[in-house]
Amino acid sequence: MAKKTNEPKLDFKTDWAYEPAPEDTKHISLKKQYDLFIDGEFVKPNSKKYFATYNPATEEKLADIAEADVKDVDKAVKAAQKAFTKWSKISAKERGKYIYRIARLMQERAREFAVIETMDGGKPIRESRDIDVPLAANHFFYYAGWADKLEYAFPNRNPKPIGVAGQIIPWNFPLLMAAWKIAPALATGNTVVLKPAETTSLTALKLAELIRDSGLPDGVVNILTGAGATGAAIVNHPDINKIAFTGSTDVGKLIQKAIAGTDKKLTLELGGKAANIIFEDAPLDQAVEGIVNGIFFNQGHVCCAGSRLFVQESVADIVIRKLKDRMETLIVGDPLDKNTDIGAINSKEQLLKINKYLKIGKEEGAELYQSSCTIPTKGNFCRPTLFLNASQSHRVVQEEIFGPVLTVQTFRTIEEVIEKANNIPYGLSAGVWTDKGSKIFNLTSKLRAGVVWANTYNKFDPTSPFGGYKESGFGREGGLHGLMPYLKF
Ligand code: NAI
Ligand code: MG
Repeated sequence: MAKKTNEPKLDFKTDWAYEPAPEDTKHISLKKQYDLFIDGEFVKPNSKKYFATYNPATEEKLADIAEADVKDVDKAVKAAQKAFTKWSKISAKERGKYIYRIARLMQERAREFAVIETMDGGKPIRESRDIDVPLAANHFFYYAGWADKLEYAFPNRNPKPIGVAGQIIPWNFPLLMAAWKIAPALATGNTVVLKPAETTSLTALKLAELIRDSGLPDGVVNILTGAGATGAAIVNHPDINKIAFTGSTDVGKLIQKAIAGTDKKLTLELGGKAANIIFEDAPLDQAVEGIVNGIFFNQGHVCCAGSRLFVQESVADIVIRKLKDRMETLIVGDPLDKNTDIGAINSKEQLLKINKYLKIGKEEGAELYQSSCTIPTKGNFCRPTLFLNASQSHRVVQEEIFGPVLTVQTFRTIEEVIEKANNIPYGLSAGVWTDKGSKIFNLTSKLRAGVVWANTYNKFDPTSPFGGYKESGFGREGGLHGLMPYLKF
């Protein structure tokens, strides 16, 4: 009889019937210390400095992460430049094959990625396992397919790669954002220097291991860890040809200033404060599910979260009652438990920020409502929260909270709700719930939002472009549009 082993099975397809349970973390091998991934190998940081990454649900330290400085950035950019001369010249079909290989390896290692994502960032395992990791692999599959079809995507325009792309990503979807950045860059023949966010570097470093194992030529993808200063060093490096940033609007503005006057290309995917609009003719039970998914998915750490609810006055009482009932059923707690709905807030800083807004909302006169669930005493947690009777001028309505906090406003007419939905500095996404197709078409054309979901929310697909208006940034990621920022014509 074959010896029973506890090793995770590494077969080609992911075994979806398998559901990681908390004890599965013992199968996950984390190193004590992670170095920088430059030119195909892991190297020590120039400064010899490391910083700790924590599990936000337990507050335990998971590993030490290298902090890259200007010299490390220069080394990575040089490696990427050298790699570009070869990578941009190999046949497009060959390039596609490498990207397919990355996608397949990600599926093989899906379980490990999901558990580490949840340990390092705090999101429920159900989300890492069923959404983040499969979507990340799909993104590589999708862009692998484009690699040898660029002539068809842009007929008669002779698309060419730009060079070295500097990519800076946030902590809310660490692996998925790495995939959104790396896949289109490689498909178009560019090379990459990517920096994950300082609280969630582990899955990007696992991706570095995967990329090394995939045989991708050295230097095509370099992964540097560190905080804001490392990001700024990438932005300011003279040999970076393109910056792709996802994160806060404040840092987005700093980056825009920093590269003003250079010929660096830039795409910014910044904050959001989306309206989720429920009309009286909507299927209300489905709408309530959509409201819950819109704001409580990933603890509300979602740039396109439906964080402003607009309910038509005639159904406001019933929708709010159903919403409160549904909120009572949400389980807040151990992110590694597959029954958990709302995991840990990503960092102490973020929890402080959310709590600050809870105070501000109350002071402004909105009515705070929280579900009565218990939350763990250790770790960073926040109950699902509503601000009822919120008004347009409240800071909790105007500013991005990035937590499980939903403001509730009512409206009477379609004109009124369009006006209120648009009266905000952001324009990333929106949701519309109605039985009438005509209303959907009317609103999708009048809402200043890059993505408008109708009778659903927070659905992502690699074929669909994503990006914002106004202070939510510019440029599109995903779909055919997502190739453009990495090409010159
Ligand atoms: P952040 O914008 O500071 O961090 C995002 C990334 O930018 C990280 O990798 C960070 O190391 C890097 N970074 C920081 N300063 C930089 C600089 N000067 N130059 C280049 N890169 C730099 O976001 P933070 O502080 O982690 O979160 C603060 C708030 O930002 C959140 O509460 C949320 O409201 C918003 N946010 C929005 C995101 C979105 O996807 N819309 C994602 C993350 C944060
Ligand atoms: Mg962490």
